[in-house]
Amino acid sequence: MGQVLNVRQQGAIAILEIDNPPVNALSHAVRAALVEALDSVDRDPAIDAAIITCAGRTFVAGSDIREFGKPRQPPLLSDVIDRLDAMSKPVVAALFGTTLGGGLELALGCHHRIAAPATRLGFPEVKLGLIPGAGGTQRLPRAVGPETALTMIVTGEPIMAEAAFAHGLVDELADGDLQEAVIALAQRVAKRGAPRRLRDDAAKLAANGDERARFDATAQALTKRARGLKAPHACVDAVRSALDLPFDEGLEHERAIFRELVAGDQSKAQRYIFFAERAAAKGPGLDAKPRPVERVAIIGAGTMGHGIAVAFADAGLAVTLIETDEDTLQRGLEAVAAIYAGAAKRGQLTPGEAENRRTRIRGVVGLREAADADLMVEAVFEDFDLKRDVLAELATLTRPDAVLATNTSYLDVDALASATDRPAAILGMHFFSPANVMRLVEIVRGAKSAPDVLATAIAIARRLGKVPAVVGNGHGFVGNRMLRQRSAAAEQVLLAGALPHEVDAAMEAFGFPMGPFAVADLAGLDIGWRMRKAQGLKAPIADALCEAGRFGQKSGKGYYSYASGSRTPERDAGVEAIVVEASRRAGITRRALSGDEIVERLLFPMINEGARILEERIAARASDIDVIWVNGYGWPVWRGGPIYYADAIGLASIRDKLVAMAEASDDESLMPAPLLVRLAEEGRTFHSL
Ligand code: COA
Repeated sequence: MGQVLNVRQQGAIAILEIDNPPVNALSHAVRAALVEALDSVDRDPAIDAAIITCAGRTFVAGSDIREFGKPRQPPLLSDVIDRLDAMSKPVVAALFGTTLGGGLELALGCHHRIAAPATRLGFPEVKLGLIPGAGGTQRLPRAVGPETALTMIVTGEPIMAEAAFAHGLVDELADGDLQEAVIALAQRVAKRGAPRRLRDDAAKLAANGDERARFDATAQALTKRARGLKAPHACVDAVRSALDLPFDEGLEHERAIFRELVAGDQSKAQRYIFFAERAAAKGPGLDAKPRPVERVAIIGAGTMGHGIAVAFADAGLAVTLIETDEDTLQRGLEAVAAIYAGAAKRGQLTPGEAENRRTRIRGVVGLREAADADLMVEAVFEDFDLKRDVLAELATLTRPDAVLATNTSYLDVDALASATDRPAAILGMHFFSPANVMRLVEIVRGAKSAPDVLATAIAIARRLGKVPAVVGNGHGFVGNRMLRQRSAAAEQVLLAGALPHEVDAAMEAFGFPMGPFAVADLAGLDIGWRMRKAQGLKAPIADALCEAGRFGQKSGKGYYSYASGSRTPERDAGVEAIVVEASRRAGITRRALSGDEIVERLLFPMINEGARILEERIAARASDIDVIWVNGYGWPVWRGGPIYYADAIGLASIRDKLVAMAEASDDESLMPAPLLVRLAEEGRTFHSL
């Protein structure tokens, strides 16, 4: 046990230092060692107070997520905190790094807290489909007041040390050396007699009628977008019990909710995604040392280019945004300014910070300006010849150690790279729109991309706060390749008898934030139309809409119509007539489709494509596909992603339905992929691969 907890003594102060890399999670061994050490602190007459601190890069960043869902092994974290409550001597927590989840609960169980200024404190449990389960929902409201506690627990977003100090969550900020400051604090409080426990402090809880109404309004606003997720509502329920129940009953209530959630399907799926996200950027050859990146050039100031520029500026990097002419550049810079003005208006950034970030982006005309950048992201229009020419020119202009990324959604990265004299420096970084908001980046590994070029792209994506997923080179990579199957299936479902709003309703009921036709209207229908024409493909309904000038929201009409200035889709009799006419021409007798049938017909072909992607090794792991769909395409996280979902349904049933679909529509492409057939026959899952 000595390995995970180092115990030292300085004068009359005991120092309990948790040492459990990488993030000092509260594994069983740590909890057991803490209880034992606290016992001996209490017993030892030579000790007046204790400190809990950590070795390494952070104070405890949470309970050990790997232990969730397994049989619980005492002492639990709540036992450690009960021990703290029973102490006769004060215990001070020294916080730094990311004090999260169980780490913050441990800190709240201590009698005093001091934090280094860069500390982030929060309860991210909601993102794992959980609530804090060791008193966090009862102690935080006592420390900071109910509304602040509610916001922190329901959003899962951490706050900085300064805000924590202002709210009373920490007693002191350590401006200088944290260790010295915490010893000094421990020495001071040791003289004050019996330790002060948060469980006894109800001063901030007294909520009169007005405050109660505000609490309820905040709860409602915070859960408005919870869409099928149980945990945000459970967080509200638990925090409310801090107001309604005596402390111990509140704890009981919290524990009951936690136990139910941790055993449930939603949290299981969300914990799976947590580890899947961390795995998606790992693999053979991906652990090379990243090249340093400080200066970034983005080529192209259109929707993707300026969004990517904002993502970099948000992460504190200096960005040169490059266009071919002054007018286009100005439009891009105006779009950047509008993004920051919006963020300031919504209160997400102070006006000063918004301005700081905006001015990190310098707009210039001419590729030559990219010459001194460490990383270039080419984000010009999705056209092979254009991208090839831009990359080839960049390769001649820039330093030999610079990394060149192409932001393409479909194109062949190897073919683009081979047109330059530096294919090893090139890879794909496929951002999703809006690029400053969406978390996913598909990192496309070219046949010749150097390992440290890949490592650089992964590191920079993480620095932007994004989720990088490494994929192989192949038309549409992973996400768009599967999306294409869904779009084709959606068109077929319309022909069979459904209407756009019925399809969208079924997919929203499944948990997608928007249905596929509302998304298509948002993205614009003309891009797909152009691509189909170039490839000699047809989609009778989508083509007919474009021929009628219905390009989606940008033209005020697409699958739906939009009142001027509105983004709310409205059913349109004209569209429904086009759909019915398309069925008639195809000789199809229209019939009603249930929501379940719509969902299966849209999702199963996509899962089938996922099987082909795994067979071809475009995705290295089944879980990478799930990470991509959850972070880039609105797949509900509590359903774990398409491959996780397929495994849960059972592959034999999906195989049989695909065969039936293929036969009914006489469409060979819907026949189950060999990998899917094999796994189904063997009674296995994708994740067993
Ligand atoms: N339990 C178990 N393992 C954890 C963990 C936890 N609470 N938190 C992080 N880890 C592991 C990660 O899986 C990763 O392992 P790997 O290197 O084998 O992939 C490693 O610690 C580093 O985490 P990573 O997220 O890659 O590092 P980071 O520096 O980007 O972020 C944190 C660090 C702590 C901010 C982030 O890991 C995090 O948010 N953790 C979850 C915190 C949480 O939800 N706590 C509440 C649980 S009660």
